[in-house]
Amino acid sequence: MDGALSNSHFMSQILLYTFAFLVLALPVVQSASVTRYYNFDVRLQNVTRLCKTKSIPTVNGQFPGPKITVREDDRIIVRVVNHLNYNVTFHWHGIRQLGSQWADGPSYVTQCPIRSGQSYVYNFTVTGQRGTLWWHAHFSWLRVHLYGPLIILPKEGVAYPFPQPYKEVPIMFGEWFNSDPEAVIKQALQTGAGPNISDAYTINGLPGPLYNCSAKDTFKLNVKPGRTYLLRLINAALNSELFFSIANHSFTVVETDANYVKPFSTNTLLISPGQTINILLSTHQTTPSSSFLMMASPYTTTAGTFDNTTVAGILKYTAKILPINKPTLPSFNDTGAATNFTTKLRSLASPSYPARVPLKVEPSPKNGTCQGPNGTKFAASINNVSFVRPSIAMLEAQYYHFLEGVFTADFPGVPLIPFNYTGTPPNNTFVSHGTKVVKLKFNTSVELVMQDTSIQGAESHPLHLHGHDFFVVGQGFGNFNPYKDPAQFNLIDPNERNTVSVPSGGWVAIRFVLDNPGVWLMHCHLDVHLSWGLAMAWVVEDGPLCNQKLPPPPLDLPKC
Ligand code: C2O
Repeated sequence: MDGALSNSHFMSQILLYTFAFLVLALPVVQSASVTRYYNFDVRLQNVTRLCKTKSIPTVNGQFPGPKITVREDDRIIVRVVNHLNYNVTFHWHGIRQLGSQWADGPSYVTQCPIRSGQSYVYNFTVTGQRGTLWWHAHFSWLRVHLYGPLIILPKEGVAYPFPQPYKEVPIMFGEWFNSDPEAVIKQALQTGAGPNISDAYTINGLPGPLYNCSAKDTFKLNVKPGRTYLLRLINAALNSELFFSIANHSFTVVETDANYVKPFSTNTLLISPGQTINILLSTHQTTPSSSFLMMASPYTTTAGTFDNTTVAGILKYTAKILPINKPTLPSFNDTGAATNFTTKLRSLASPSYPARVPLKVEPSPKNGTCQGPNGTKFAASINNVSFVRPSIAMLEAQYYHFLEGVFTADFPGVPLIPFNYTGTPPNNTFVSHGTKVVKLKFNTSVELVMQDTSIQGAESHPLHLHGHDFFVVGQGFGNFNPYKDPAQFNLIDPNERNTVSVPSGGWVAIRFVLDNPGVWLMHCHLDVHLSWGLAMAWVVEDGPLCNQKLPPPPLDLPKC
């Protein structure tokens, strides 16, 4: 009796252990990383919008380009074959590229362009990231046509930190030119004048009903009542920050640039080129008797010309033709509406998704030109240096140690000629031209204050840092005050992202850790400003351990 009892006790223990083993083991088996292969055949394709047909570069004939969907930890292998008769490269915007520096893609920074008829394989693993990102060409203005979503689902068995949506829909904003954008920027750089503006904005490549000859090219989102949809918004427009709103619907912001945020409800948002925002849209409980426009229009304080048109898509509950409601968008120069939105963003900062804000940052290098008080780095747009594209890839120069003649590590830590940045600008702005970089040790914590200037008029600039996310610890209007402003910095739950707008006539402070050796471009994601040299690069030295070193270049890395 006794023996039988203990025997059955023993059995149940075995069963328990077996059960526990299964429960524990299954996610491990399922979350094993998968390699996902893509072919990008880059070729021309005729596309008609606004009653004009033109031949545009596409990936596999698709416009916008194909959607890449992977899971966290997956390896992505994209074989690009360039069938155009000009150069191209691709960038995986927001991907950390830990240990895969040669796959980042900005031309002349991590690689020479892929020439006509040639190919290159981008090979990288998605580590520690999940959410909405995107890919785009990174040569001249080619990204106006060559872009697509890059969606990273959580690991198998890991839920979103918000209710599971009924459906997920990418919403990509773009810009459409009736003319050839390559001719537009070429002419502008030759004449020195501002480039011609685009003719329309697009949602998933479609301008929508508010443009002439465009009603049939309208993005339609068919929804069911009483459901929740996850809209993955991506601003792929070339030169425009955009306000976005949906008639008679508010929505909940849950993520920016593949980082979860504390959810908040709003009916208008601002999305800058390079940025992504995930929103949850809960539909009306019963089928309404109208359809609803979702619209986007520009936010800018530029003194120049800009495309002041509005793109619209339709949110439909039924196939019937119903009256259509329009949302009210802020006016184009409504900085209050822009600030109201961006200052609401906070990291989720939960136990599963902690905000690892660097609490200590390195003091500014003590070189002769360093005048930053309190050891802060004070960067104007960008410290009187206009970025010049080198003739070979900077990452190769770094790897092979032939720096001289390619770039110089003397990017000034502060503006060379300080002035009242947001007051009346000086007559001479002392801009020099060069390929200057900031060179720092592996794992350096950086605090960077980006100050807008009123040279050419105050204007907001969406600054994107390659290969890193950063925390937006502070922002304000006027000149940054290094004695007073840091006391207000949010080091608890600041918004974490890869692209942030420097407020028009103001400043933004960011913190990040340079934990990946290599060369990382930082630039304005308004391509017109990038073309004018609003860029610089961070060079991160190798760390002491072998997984902290820049690996050798892949054998098929294109040659200049
Ligand atoms: Cu979205 Cu340098 O790029």
